[in-house]
Amino acid sequence: EKGGYDHFMLKEIYEQPRAIKDTYRGRLLADQGLIRMAGIDLNMEKFLNANRIIIVACGTSWHAGLVAEYIFEDLARIPVEVEYASEFRYRNPVITDKDVLIAISQSGETADTLAAIKLAKEKGAFVFGVCNVVGSSIARESDAGAYTHAGPEIGVASTKAFTTQITVLTLMALKLAKAKGVFSESRYHEYLCELETIPGKVEKSLESNTLIEIIADVYKDSTNCLYLGRGYNFPVALEGALKLKEISYIHAEGYPAAEMKHGPIALIDEHMPVFVIATKKGHYEKVVSNIQEIKSRKGKIIAIVTEGDEQVKDLADHVIEVPETLESLTPLLTTIPLQLISYHIAVMRGCNVDQPRNLAKSVTVE
Ligand code: M6R
Repeated sequence: EKGGYDHFMLKEIYEQPRAIKDTYRGRLLADQGLIRMAGIDLNMEKFLNANRIIIVACGTSWHAGLVAEYIFEDLARIPVEVEYASEFRYRNPVITDKDVLIAISQSGETADTLAAIKLAKEKGAFVFGVCNVVGSSIARESDAGAYTHAGPEIGVASTKAFTTQITVLTLMALKLAKAKGVFSESRYHEYLCELETIPGKVEKSLESNTLIEIIADVYKDSTNCLYLGRGYNFPVALEGALKLKEISYIHAEGYPAAEMKHGPIALIDEHMPVFVIATKKGHYEKVVSNIQEIKSRKGKIIAIVTEGDEQVKDLADHVIEVPETLESLTPLLTTIPLQLISYHIAVMRGCNVDQPRNLAKSVTVE
């Protein structure tokens, strides 16, 4: 049932090219210049007239929500707030019938997320669910929604659910950008075509697996790790750190790269591995200067870079390449090596990768 892989997590990491394709199959019609999503088409007015979009989720799904915040604001020019469902539901939030709430949940059963959507519905907001499990409670409670179609995710550490959530949310943002008229025909077309290349580029990113295993062996005994990224890749840094924490039990923190100098830089010495996402698009030069700051404090740098990068190669201790793509699509690629590094470190430390201690696949109690 693990399809020849040692663990479900590894199987699910490798399933991502297919899972992403399944997510956009029948929706992304690049040759017709069309994205078809019934849940959006039928409720277009709700989205276009919304004052703002509120995204609620927990854990990895919350990280997908953060990526979506960048995508929706950047592409569709709709204001977005991203909330932990557990905080949102208890802080007497201001919600009106002009709000659209998007709930993101792999399982569709997370108690806090479910409670958050019930609250939003009571206040008259329109609720859109992005779930993986068909017929789940959140899917049923939502006014409309879009499934991720990632297939069953068994490993407690979420992998393919994350990249397929980002895929669905990207399709939604593109559709709204087009409907709002903020996207030219040619830009829209460029995005649709580029999205179609993503499964192949994820495949390519997975080819770094052997290199990543070697890197994992170097850092497997670390007690702390930092993860840094900017812009679209800031949430990816958070997600990379969460993945390492939950399956290898190594303390890890994700930060926006520029925040490093407001505190975490004090932690950096020769024993601190720092994973930095430094893809060519999006504040590249600024990330390079962050890398220089880490280097001058003797931190160990593992950089995720765009294929062919030369500048970071000279500074970093290790570089892992991912193919080039549009900036807003980079999280779909930069996530892959971070999933693999966590996986290999956890295996080397003898941890129970698929069922880490103290964790459940779906958190149905608050
Ligand atoms: O099923 P959900 O997406 O609602 O679950 C949310 C979190 O519990 C989940 O993402 C959790 O953080 C994972 N273990 C992360 O790998």
